[in-house]
Amino acid sequence: MKIRNILVALLLGAASLQVSAQSGNMSFLSSSHCMMRAESNSRYVLLPVQESAEITNVKVIVNSNVVKTLNVRLAADKIDYYVPFDMSEFAGKKVLFDFHVNGVEGKATAMKDYACWKNISYSDTFDTANREKFRPAYHHTPVYGWMNDPNGMFYKDGVYNLYYQYNPYGSQWENMTWGHSSSRDLVNWTDEGLAIEPDGLGTIFSGSCVVDKDNTAGFGAGAIVAFFTSAGENQTQSMAYSTDNGKTFTKYDGNPVIVSDVPDFRDPHVFRHAKSGRWIMILAAGQEMRIYSSANLKDWTYESSFGKGYGCHEGVWECPDLFELPVEGKNYSKWVLVCNINPGGPAGGSATQYFTGTFDGHKFTCDTKPEVTKWADYGKDNYAGVTFDNAPDGRRIMIGWMSNWQYANQVPTMQYRSANTIARDLYLYTDGTTEYLGSKPSAENEKMRGKTAVNKSISGSKTVSKMFSKPCGTYEVVLTLDPEQTSTVELVLSNKKGEKVALTYDKAKGTVSFDRHASGNVSFSKDFPAVTTAPVVGSKLSELRLYVDNCSVEAFANGGNSVMTNLVFTSEPYNSISVKCDGKKKSASLVVYPLNK
Ligand code: FRU
Repeated sequence: MKIRNILVALLLGAASLQVSAQSGNMSFLSSSHCMMRAESNSRYVLLPVQESAEITNVKVIVNSNVVKTLNVRLAADKIDYYVPFDMSEFAGKKVLFDFHVNGVEGKATAMKDYACWKNISYSDTFDTANREKFRPAYHHTPVYGWMNDPNGMFYKDGVYNLYYQYNPYGSQWENMTWGHSSSRDLVNWTDEGLAIEPDGLGTIFSGSCVVDKDNTAGFGAGAIVAFFTSAGENQTQSMAYSTDNGKTFTKYDGNPVIVSDVPDFRDPHVFRHAKSGRWIMILAAGQEMRIYSSANLKDWTYESSFGKGYGCHEGVWECPDLFELPVEGKNYSKWVLVCNINPGGPAGGSATQYFTGTFDGHKFTCDTKPEVTKWADYGKDNYAGVTFDNAPDGRRIMIGWMSNWQYANQVPTMQYRSANTIARDLYLYTDGTTEYLGSKPSAENEKMRGKTAVNKSISGSKTVSKMFSKPCGTYEVVLTLDPEQTSTVELVLSNKKGEKVALTYDKAKGTVSFDRHASGNVSFSKDFPAVTTAPVVGSKLSELRLYVDNCSVEAFANGGNSVMTNLVFTSEPYNSISVKCDGKKKSASLVVYPLNK
């Protein structure tokens, strides 16, 4: 036997030894089906994931009963990362995993030789230390796994609670569960684990929470009541309640509370309507928003629908919200109906449109012509934004998911995928004819400002080639302009590699544009390179404010009247800023603050 063959034989022997060590726990029953008896003395089973692998359907079985089902892309030939399956609720019990592996036909590797089986391991800990250079420093992210829409946001006793569409078993969309984070300042977020998990009615899609101060539902005064879509064979609406301020939830035993034969029927947003003393729910039903009312949060009466023929219908209507806001500088208020739509946004893909009008407790009446479409954010990466229930001081605070369904599953991170926008306080402003929704960075964000790094007045053009002594990817730029003198502005953020974003104002067109074609890594999706453009109501620009983090630039013009949120994946931070404007002497001033939590 040649030495090479002996080595191969030894290696094969070692491999089969490993397999046989594992095969005590594993039974391979067909080319696509196997079972594993878990060693249940550790807290976690660590499952190896390969993002490009097909989904494996997993049933977790205790005492012959299926106690959980999940879909995981178990590694076939390469391990991208591990996800933890928490065994603590089954401590002391025998736990059997049943795996149905999809897509085995025609594969070079037989299912029993997949990398996952030899690498499933057990541990009492799961390492969540950050491994991602693009992870934002001050935007909310899940510690690991996939996130989309913010859900069920509410404020109570000094704490902001943020739930979110979450996949605990991979960094791509699947297994929709409500993850939970909390914060006292809208900037520092604490991971609170899983709040609402899939059940027999389906996975847990988007929804809202209310604080039931007067115990109208009978779960107790101050109970938190969550509404969400049960995504089963059909989409139905369900509820759950919490008597520990949103840490744990109990599903209501009368679920589902609303059913329909409309296929896209989801994302209930509930609020207290003070004037009628009832609860109102708005939810997406196909190309409309439906409004329901209730006295006790459990029994719902259909009131009306809004949307046929109004605004943009180039995609699915999702994630609504409905609230009243005063109009700045005026003595009246208006109702705002938020309607997320995917695709069909002004920059392609997902976006948030809104309608202004009146709401009488039964019906929303839009105050603009049906053909008018208004957008809350003209960038590519602010979707599914909704507002907090019970926010203090009459504030209306919105957070959106900072991504776009066009490429959300492909962005170049692995340990986690997706962040939320910074918190923004909403307001209405008017040009005298129509009302618009503005979103201003919430004041809490300003607490992150460090010592001023740049403070220059500008006549003509200015380049600051080094804003910080150390590379810094997290900062705020405030460019203040004389609106009478200024008709063009070009602001460029760049790094030594030549990666850049350019923001351009053109008074004649009445727009601000954001070009991210050369922003860094743009190759993961053909839809990522883009120029996004926002109208400037009234055409004049007095301020351009940017929040820059490790993978995003959020641009606010005129305090938040026009907004663009865009992701960027730079190989190193943009450490240089150049500003060119046509105003005469000292028509502009540029201030840059590093941001630290
Ligand atoms: C919006 C959305 C919602 C749905 C959820 C599922 O991004 O499609 O309509 O509830 O995501 O994760």
